[in-house]
Amino acid sequence: MATTNPFRKPRVFQIRLLASSMSLLGRSSSGRSLILFVRSLPILRGFANFLLGYRRTFPSFAKAQASASHYIPASHEHPDEIRFHTSMSDAARESDYPVLFCLSRAEDDLHRVFDLGGNVGNLFYCYQQYLNFANDLVWMVYDLPSKKPIGEKLAAQRNEHRIRYVNAISAASGADLFIASGSLHYFEEPLDKISSRFRTIVLISVLASCRAARNSSLVCKN
Ligand SMILES: C[S@@+](CC[C@H](N)C(=O)[O-])C[C@H]1O[C@@H](n2cnc3c(N)ncnc32)[C@H](O)[C@@H]1O
Repeated sequence: MATTNPFRKPRVFQIRLLASSMSLLGRSSSGRSLILFVRSLPILRGFANFLLGYRRTFPSFAKAQASASHYIPASHEHPDEIRFHTSMSDAARESDYPVLFCLSRAEDDLHRVFDLGGNVGNLFYCYQQYLNFANDLVWMVYDLPSKKPIGEKLAAQRNEHRIRYVNAISAASGADLFIASGSLHYFEEPLDKISSRFRTIVLISVLASCRAARNSSLVCKN
């Protein structure tokens, strides 16, 4: 029988609490100075890194992933994560505002959209409450294979024919819009390399650490 580490839950709780407290602290200039001071002294930095566990910075994606899986042995396929993104289908987040603003000027020209890390297609469902997407629009979702049956089931429940799951990033070729919302950081290849392989008119990227529009980045090509 598999044994579970009794310290894992309290440790994850402690890591989350500290990371959230540091985020709050970093909102004030004195808090930022304190964090910078801690980072400048190797002993304090090492101790803070230990306390931050998987929420510290890592030299590579692989190292970050290995550390995180040590604490939480589940990833994007976790039912909570899927439930969360399904609920996102009905509610716009602050970070969706700049995307909606940009798309509101281009909705008539959208026929093929490529959604990198698009999960269950939640952006499509959310944005269509505000935008008038064409009936012949194809919204291509590229995500992990485990998301496909869940996304397809949701599309069937909502009687939505415009969502398609694609198996390769090359499907973005010829898309009117390439959108990466909260997903770019899961891909090691830089965005300019990914996008150099196909002709895309607009790239919109909402970055990982983005909790609000202030951290969103929007890149337009052509
Ligand atoms: C934070 S969620 C963002 C979901 C959605 N785009 C949004 O804005 O709500 C990141 C998504 O990236 C997907 N993802 C992570 N690594 C991936 C990979 N290697 N290939 C495809 N999708 C990936 C995850 O499954 C997840 O759906």
